[in-house]
Amino acid sequence: MSKILIIGACGQIGTELVLELRKLKGAENVIAGDVRDECPAILADGPYVKMDILDRAFVREYIIENHVDEVYLLAALLSATAEKNPDFAWRLNMEGLFTILDLAKEKYVKKIFWPSSIAVFGPTTPRYNTPQYTVMEPSTVYGISKQAGERWCEYYFNKFGVDVRSIRYPGLISYTSLPGGGTTDYAVDIFYQAKLKKDYTCFLRDDSALPMMYMADAIRATIELMEAPAEKVRVRSSYNLSGCSFTPAQLTAAIRVHRPDFNVSYVPDFRQQIADSWPASIDDSSARNDWGWKEHFGTAEMVEIMLENVDPSKLN
Ligand code: NAD
Ligand code: SER
Repeated sequence: MSKILIIGACGQIGTELVLELRKLKGAENVIAGDVRDECPAILADGPYVKMDILDRAFVREYIIENHVDEVYLLAALLSATAEKNPDFAWRLNMEGLFTILDLAKEKYVKKIFWPSSIAVFGPTTPRYNTPQYTVMEPSTVYGISKQAGERWCEYYFNKFGVDVRSIRYPGLISYTSLPGGGTTDYAVDIFYQAKLKKDYTCFLRDDSALPMMYMADAIRATIELMEAPAEKVRVRSSYNLSGCSFTPAQLTAAIRVHRPDFNVSYVPDFRQQIADSWPASIDDSSARNDWGWKEHFGTAEMVEIMLENVDPSKLN
């Protein structure tokens, strides 16, 4: 059985990816790694290593000594947080990627998953049904780092045969772990506030359409891409992936089906400019054709699950 290491395992995606991979591969084969001191209780059934992806020597030694075959590199600063600390965001989002790509080039690591984002697109990209190949002029430090990362992934695949696979995730919606500082976080926050009280102040305009996805779909897509035969993975930069797209007003309306007295007001902040530079919807036909991607969750189902499962005590 392959040894798998997930770096950034305590975050919104990592927590659920570790849980799902442990179900499939056995808890002892899936190591959760994160810069946080403590392993969260939810991941305590398997190995945990405190590691800083920027500590190249430690990461290299750990991966080589523990015979890690596959790495999921999730540690990054997301769009909103990155805008507040661009130098560090560039460093964190790029340096760790080189550490892992180099370990694969040297044949220590056999397969890498590295997530990209809809943030690779920019204001000059066609906004609707954004194609796999199109104009990409990102205007955020996060988007620039993801676009550069995609180029390096493709380069290491072409030059050194590194088996690196990637998805341009849309905004991800989940209840197990809180989101970590993105522009799409409103679409998670809103459920906590719908459960806690009857109103919410949204930091985006009511008509800001963005591509989104329920976490279970994102985790399944990630594992399906990683398990696809190598010859089917024709895109070695990163795959467009689509779940559901909606505006804050449409999400509010879907919540009001279950909570008719819930009200949202709109006070856009700096994140509006980021949202305005991103696509409203995504064409993911390459993922569908190459490795058979298909989403399972639409907005209405996602809303029902979120309202049932979000736990506002997590906000404390
Ligand atoms: P998150 O912020 O929730 O989690 C990131 C995790 O990385 C945290 O647990 C953090 O402690 C850890 N981390 C931070 N610095 C580290 C370091 N130096 N060394 C080791 N670990 C470190 O992020 P997420 O939402 O889970 O996103 C994971 C990846 O997916 C990121 O690369 C992000 O860009 C990408 N992505 C996420 C979304 C989304 O909507 N969540 C969308 C598109 C792309
Ligand atoms: N959800 C992410 C963000 O808003 C998209 O990459 O930053």
